[in-house]
Amino acid sequence: MSPAWSYAGRVETFGETTTTAAPPVAELHLHIEGTLQPELIFALAERNGIELPYADLNELRAKYEFTDLQSFLDLYYANMAVLRTEEDFADMTRAYLARAAAGGVRHVEVMMDPQAHVSRGVPLETCVNGVASALATSAEEFGVSTLLIAAFLRDLSEESALEVLEHLIALEAPIAGIGLDSAEVGNPPSKFERLYRRAAEAGLHRIAHAGEEGPAAYITEALDLLGVERIDHGIRCMDDPAVVERLVAEQVPLTVCPLSNVRLRAVDTLADHPLPAMLAAGLNVSVNSDDPAYFGGYVDDNFEQLVAIHGFSVAQRATLAANSIRSSFADEARKGELLEAVAEWVRGAGE
Ligand code: ADE
Ligand code: ZN
Repeated sequence: MSPAWSYAGRVETFGETTTTAAPPVAELHLHIEGTLQPELIFALAERNGIELPYADLNELRAKYEFTDLQSFLDLYYANMAVLRTEEDFADMTRAYLARAAAGGVRHVEVMMDPQAHVSRGVPLETCVNGVASALATSAEEFGVSTLLIAAFLRDLSEESALEVLEHLIALEAPIAGIGLDSAEVGNPPSKFERLYRRAAEAGLHRIAHAGEEGPAAYITEALDLLGVERIDHGIRCMDDPAVVERLVAEQVPLTVCPLSNVRLRAVDTLADHPLPAMLAAGLNVSVNSDDPAYFGGYVDDNFEQLVAIHGFSVAQRATLAANSIRSSFADEARKGELLEAVAEWVRGAGE
């Protein structure tokens, strides 16, 4: 199935030279189910004989007005109904990889939500094998190295998460780590201590969403109680100077998603986004897309708008890119290649 988008190939001119607004990056905060474009939702519904509750694309697109995280999650989970077969998961993943590669992504750590599929009767093997099969050929096909992360839904019980994690381990699923996502407020990291202990025992990397809508204290909990190596979002750290001080001192990676934060009303507008202040404070921040099909853009779109609204310089963009690469779970050789690609991009920009 051919992808349902086209890339405009946007470029910027610096004196005599021309470069892309977005540097080569590692995308560290990406939900694969959040890459399902409306066109692909309709195509998969047709292929699987599923009747959608929307008459056409316009009716579906009209739903992409969110008031908060939960209003988005309701649509995000509903649209997953079209994902039934390995081929569906593989097609979705391949469409993301092709688009991300065109926008400068050179390494991606893809989150998927296995509980959201198992609970609909889709076997765990189907969703994992489908996504993993597309990831397995990504380096060759798109020049994008990949890792897979199983994310657990924090509004479900820890028992449910543990059951799925044990199943993933028993299947020897090709996962590099675990994450924690879905409705944050009222579902603190402390609810998942046993899950993260088990993941550590199994040698898995550990990340968690914290401080998206929830308080700065959830960031501290995720670090202290879950032993996470990265925080997804983390923007609410700016409410607490002591948390900022710690995150700077420990250089904890924060995978920030500017367009997502605007669309989910965590911040009013991109002009109000704390990313410039976070960079200035010395926090280890990167730029990511979260759920690009829902939030109006991929990583390169985020960079493009940060340049337009905040005037981010080549040096600032290179810092964000280098942070993403150093904060990834890629091996040192791959990190070295990607850091060299960033240096090359800076030279191409004439700075
Ligand atoms: N699942 C997909 N996108 C998410 C987000 N931005 N926050 C929490 N859970 C999510
Ligand atoms: Zn997210």
